[in-house]
Amino acid sequence: MPVQIREAIIALPAYPPPIAGRTGLRLDFNENTSGCSPSALRALAGIDGETVARYPDVATAEMAIAAAYGHSPASALLTNGVDDALLLLALTVLEPGTEAIIPEPGFAMYRFYAAQLGARVVAVPFRRSPREFVTDCAALDRAVTPRTRIIFIASPNNPTGHLTPAADLLALAQRWPDILICVDEAYAEFVADDATGLLPCVLRQPNLVVTRTFSKAYGLAGARLGCLFAHPDLLPVLRKAHSPYSVSTLAAACGAAAVDDKAWVRAYRREVIASRALLQTTLDELAIPYWCSAANFVLCNAGTRARELTAGLRARGVLVRDRGGDIAGAVRITCGRVSQTESACAAIKEIWHG
Ligand SMILES: Cc1ncc(COP(=O)(O)O)c(C=O)c1O
Repeated sequence: MPVQIREAIIALPAYPPPIAGRTGLRLDFNENTSGCSPSALRALAGIDGETVARYPDVATAEMAIAAAYGHSPASALLTNGVDDALLLLALTVLEPGTEAIIPEPGFAMYRFYAAQLGARVVAVPFRRSPREFVTDCAALDRAVTPRTRIIFIASPNNPTGHLTPAADLLALAQRWPDILICVDEAYAEFVADDATGLLPCVLRQPNLVVTRTFSKAYGLAGARLGCLFAHPDLLPVLRKAHSPYSVSTLAAACGAAAVDDKAWVRAYRREVIASRALLQTTLDELAIPYWCSAANFVLCNAGTRARELTAGLRARGVLVRDRGGDIAGAVRITCGRVSQTESACAAIKEIWHG
């Protein structure tokens, strides 16, 4: 008698992460291209065998990290990357017969986790113009049914880079108090004029959850650390459903040290904002259209030359991401240190001029 596999898993398309063969300048995954804060590395080096031998107790790190975001553990929960937070939210509210609304093109894991739980995914397209993507809140409202349990939305969004005004997302949560609204702020640190996002709002909006990652601005993608923020009435429910040891001692120590080194992350943020402007200017010069981005990447429309651009960059040691599966001709280019962006721009010019 074969093992019984759940229908949802049988139907689930596999998601093999495209991480093989990544040698060169990593502008393909929106990671930090500058490593991480030396304080995080020192914290890692300071961990002894006795500490590694124990199961993790991350309470102190959780308190320090929550405080750095203006919260306390009553409204903040460390997770094994934002991916773990997304899965936690999905398994808390989704089951067969329920629906998850996902604006698209968006981050692939929203669909992946909702489908794992056997929920129906209701995709709502962003409104698209040649220069901007815009979140269509009226279309999100229209997509709600009595079966809707959660709306996942990233702001700034990946892969489009566009920011949805915090007021619009809060209003969405206020209109649908019985639906979980997950605002994924993985790229919030790169928003030029305000990096606070919706963090303060979760304390007064019980159905709003905000996620932050250490994989981008903090350069800890390999450590796997995220933080989920929710109203103190909701957080204990999420904490109860969370695997007790999913955050490692090592990740928590790195994260606590990283948030303490404010100068390092501020300096990297400045580099990324300057890099983004430089990349956009280069694309303008070459008349390659792109969509306005508030994140650490720019999505451009290389049209019929997208393959040539990604392959040409790879041949020159620069890795970028072909997003043609989402939008024909789209190529996503991560912005890291200015010197790296200068090299990437020189390579783009060389390829484009033929
Ligand atoms: C919008 C968004 N959310 C979450 C993640 C994943 O974050 P983490 O590495 O913390 O799991 C990504 C990674 O690319 C992302 O683009």
